[in-house]
Amino acid sequence: MRKPFIAANWKMNKTLNETKSFLKDFIPLVKDVSDVDIIIAPPFTSLYVAAEQLKGTNIFLGAQNVFYEEVGAYTGEISPLMLSDIGCKYVIVGHSERRQYFNETDLIINKKIKAAKKAGLGVIFCIGESLEEREKGETFDVLLREIEEGLDDIDIDELIIAYEPIWAIGTGKTATPDQAQEVHEFIRDKLQFFYGNKANTSCIIYGGSVTPNNIDSLMACKDVDGALVGGASLKVESFTRIVKFRKEK
Ligand code: PGA
Repeated sequence: MRKPFIAANWKMNKTLNETKSFLKDFIPLVKDVSDVDIIIAPPFTSLYVAAEQLKGTNIFLGAQNVFYEEVGAYTGEISPLMLSDIGCKYVIVGHSERRQYFNETDLIINKKIKAAKKAGLGVIFCIGESLEEREKGETFDVLLREIEEGLDDIDIDELIIAYEPIWAIGTGKTATPDQAQEVHEFIRDKLQFFYGNKANTSCIIYGGSVTPNNIDSLMACKDVDGALVGGASLKVESFTRIVKFRKEK
């Protein structure tokens, strides 16, 4: 019912040559994968070359960030139109690194999602609690706030929610399948409450130290529909294995 969605978030990694060489090796390895949506989100500087290489393949291009204005005097920013124009189908919004290091608030994230959707981009909307919030028992409150404020006045068509517990990002500490399932089920319940049956067709993906070793057990969870992969997406071999997870569902 929901097509698995596996996205690579390269963050601030890979030069042009590194991008080209990764894709040259990766594209043929996954060319027969038709039952998974595969997304690569390289840094902005690599979008153009990646778009050229991905033409005619089964891999979609994504960006890691976007600004919410359409055009104008916003030095250093990139508009949704520029992203769709270069060939992006998706954009990641609300990543915890953007929230933490660049002070992105729920309100800013809400504006970015609206602008991205208006330009026809699919949105990978990231939410997740910190270790401190989890230990204080605030996980569900935090997630509910991020959903309510981030998605205020927004429809969830073409929107993928990425649950990324901050304590699991880049730390090697993955949520257990039970922890992931518990939260994904909570998110789906909330989507059901706000959007009715659309909740059943919306992808909720997991992110945070996903590797070839844990992808199969995560994907076996009923409400885990895919993964947002940082570190393990930088190597062709490990990302290929993640894309070709073993379907135990
Ligand atoms: P990680 O990053 O896989 O390196 O933990 C995931 C992410 O931040 O999207």
